[in-house]
Amino acid sequence: MIDNWRDAFVDLAYFAASVLFIVGLKRLSSPASARQGNQLAMVGMLVAVVATLFTRGFENSNYILIIVGIALGGALGYLPARRVKMTAMPQMVAIFNGMGGATAALVSIAEFSHKTDIPGGEAVSIVLGTIIGAVSFTGSAIAFLKLQELMSGRPIVYPNQKPINAALFGGIAVLSLLTLVLYDGNLTLARVLLTLVFVASLVLGALVVVPIGGADMPVVIALLNSATGLAAALTGFVLNNQALVVAGALVGASGTLLTLLMARAMNRKVTNVLFGAFGGGAIASGAAASTGEAKPIREISAEDAAVPLAYAQRVVIVPGYGLAVAQAQHGVRELADMLQERGVDVRYAIHPVAGRMPGHMNVLLAEANVPYDDLYEMDDINDDFAKTDVALVIGANDVTNPAARADTSSPIYGMPILNVDHASQIIVLKRSMKSGFAGIENELFHDPKTTMLFGDAKETINRLIGAVKAA
Ligand code: TAP
Repeated sequence: MIDNWRDAFVDLAYFAASVLFIVGLKRLSSPASARQGNQLAMVGMLVAVVATLFTRGFENSNYILIIVGIALGGALGYLPARRVKMTAMPQMVAIFNGMGGATAALVSIAEFSHKTDIPGGEAVSIVLGTIIGAVSFTGSAIAFLKLQELMSGRPIVYPNQKPINAALFGGIAVLSLLTLVLYDGNLTLARVLLTLVFVASLVLGALVVVPIGGADMPVVIALLNSATGLAAALTGFVLNNQALVVAGALVGASGTLLTLLMARAMNRKVTNVLFGAFGGGAIASGAAASTGEAKPIREISAEDAAVPLAYAQRVVIVPGYGLAVAQAQHGVRELADMLQERGVDVRYAIHPVAGRMPGHMNVLLAEANVPYDDLYEMDDINDDFAKTDVALVIGANDVTNPAARADTSSPIYGMPILNVDHASQIIVLKRSMKSGFAGIENELFHDPKTTMLFGDAKETINRLIGAVKAA
């Protein structure tokens, strides 16, 4: 009787946790509700963890080990999350994601090694959870090392890379099938085979990600994220834990959507990201690549840049990765406020892949309390650049590169860009003439309508603020 009540309580708690995950995820879709969405999902996870402590048979567990695990995991999550810089967020997501993959694989192996009466469906979940979790772990670890610059971010290619990966994949498939065929009669041999599947999958994860350039890493991380979600959902089936199935499915689905969204915004096919080794030869290709002769640019001082800004009717601010590096968001907000007080119409144009992760610019500007209503998605503002007096480009580069529209030989050809070059005047804030993420030159900087204001964006904005005050 008590056990029935206990089961009902756990089921209900898992249901409540699932609802909290779904509502939380929904709320993440707008900057205004994202913080609350995160909090709801956190409560959902707390409910799921507490409910798990009440599941039947849990009283036989080693409580000390569980407490140590929770304390260690909590500290390893909390401390880096508090300290991480926004620009280092992709590698942090990668390493956390890798931990999820490793956990799914290890739980699958542990279940296989202590259970004796395993139904067929569960065995399939165990094998798939092991493969996907292990691939996701080492793939994410390589992504972390590349983004943290602990290993070269450039694609690492070697002869017969694809045949080697294909052979390894084939080997894993054969070993997995043997595991599933043999486990019913010879569980000991099947356990050895699953260990081999695990090791081979670890190697495959690393080999698949090694040839991918740092430039494509955020897309790969989203893809690995969806893989980890899938592995977690499979583990949920093995453990008979509904909350884990739902949470894993949500991670899997959202990771897949994010991968597709990013790939589309960069006009890249996911298969191209995985097998294209972008970033290796990209710098030399495209008509925009340096021809050796210096093209003219027009440099401007903060004082001279302040005048057209202060007397403009319409200004569109285009934030990019450099804004995040310089942490100039508060200064930008102050400058925009000042211009708005002078009657200037100031808006922000947000490119879907500006920065290094989805929503990077929205998060950054929200931190500085920029009103959400002033932020415009690319498609909503692109036609308005033609009616804009000044486009103020702050640390953005690739997302403004007209070569994406016109130069068929450019590596970013076809990527939708912000039509910054349609504005009457363009002021670009960056430190040098160096290229952006894609490693290619930007014709916009040589446009006769463009002036370059060199320096760290935070310092330059502060100088601009002073100059607008005086204008
Ligand atoms: P980028 O093209 O990377 O350009 C950023 C520019 O900021 C650089 O040219 C750099 O020039 C400048 N910069 C760096 N630090 C600065 C500082 N302290 N002060 C002023 N300027 C600074 O950035 P973007 O235009 O935002 O484009 C994003 C790129 O990332 C795209 O190629 C996109 O495909 C890629 N990407 C994004 C995502 C997501 S989801 N966001 C995912 C995958 C790939 P200097 O060095 O001369 O200062």
